[in-house]
Amino acid sequence: MDIFPPPTTILLKQANLKLTGPFRIELKDITMIPSFFKTMPRIIGHRGARGHAPENTLASFKRAAELGTQSVEIDVSVTKDNKTVIHHDSEVDRCTDGAGPVLLKTLEEIKALDAGSWYSNDFKGETIPTMAEALGCISALNLSLNLEIKPCTGWQIPTAQIVGTELRDKNTFGLPILLSSFDIEALVAIGDMLPELPRGYLTKAIPPDWERRLYEARADSLHCQGQYVTKEIVQAVQKAGYKFLVYTVNDPDHAKQLLDWNVDAIITDYPDRLFPLL
Ligand code: G3P
Ligand code: MG
Repeated sequence: MDIFPPPTTILLKQANLKLTGPFRIELKDITMIPSFFKTMPRIIGHRGARGHAPENTLASFKRAAELGTQSVEIDVSVTKDNKTVIHHDSEVDRCTDGAGPVLLKTLEEIKALDAGSWYSNDFKGETIPTMAEALGCISALNLSLNLEIKPCTGWQIPTAQIVGTELRDKNTFGLPILLSSFDIEALVAIGDMLPELPRGYLTKAIPPDWERRLYEARADSLHCQGQYVTKEIVQAVQKAGYKFLVYTVNDPDHAKQLLDWNVDAIITDYPDRLFPLL
């Protein structure tokens, strides 16, 4: 049975209710969702402050904070021995002195890599952080966090479950977290484990069936690539009850247009370039 008549979705969302089956409605715990979005700044640092430091390292998170950024986006994936690490690519080649897939390396092997020298000798000795190290650092910096689940294709469910388990069992920092992913399966899997955390569905272009996808992902926000955003789609998505985030926008003129269209937040490599727009 098709349980997707969009008007019902909108009504349920506005009433903070969740449709979990054809005829079942249950109260949705909204305690964490509004608190994250209420304090979400309009400028979020991409992979820390990727324009100023090697992406997804503790140095990058610290640089973001030094620039005045209040929230950062980072990518999490998993190792061969089921540990969580903060890394964007499925391979380590681009951003370390090593080679090969993250998923085929143990945490010990990952930790032996230099994740700073590729960017600049000033960052020699930076390592790929574990998720626990990243959460501790970002919490100590008093930032909020957009944690993007970045599974190797085929490893969506294990990745979501390993990340979810660690967040559920070990995130004692009280850090405000918005989860996100391009992968609906991963969002659903982690949503089952951590229903109290808000979730964002990532896409490049906005698909025609965006509302169905947001519903299936049980998402609270839509995150799109900047070049595909129009004023009309921002209005439509927000009218349907979702937050609208845009990545990765580094050009202040483009960012100004998006802010004028009332997007909720922009993810950027150069937060310092966009702050004068606020
Ligand atoms: O979460 C926004 C953005 O990071 C998504 O794309 O490839 O930079 O992780 P990517
Ligand atoms: Mg990302």
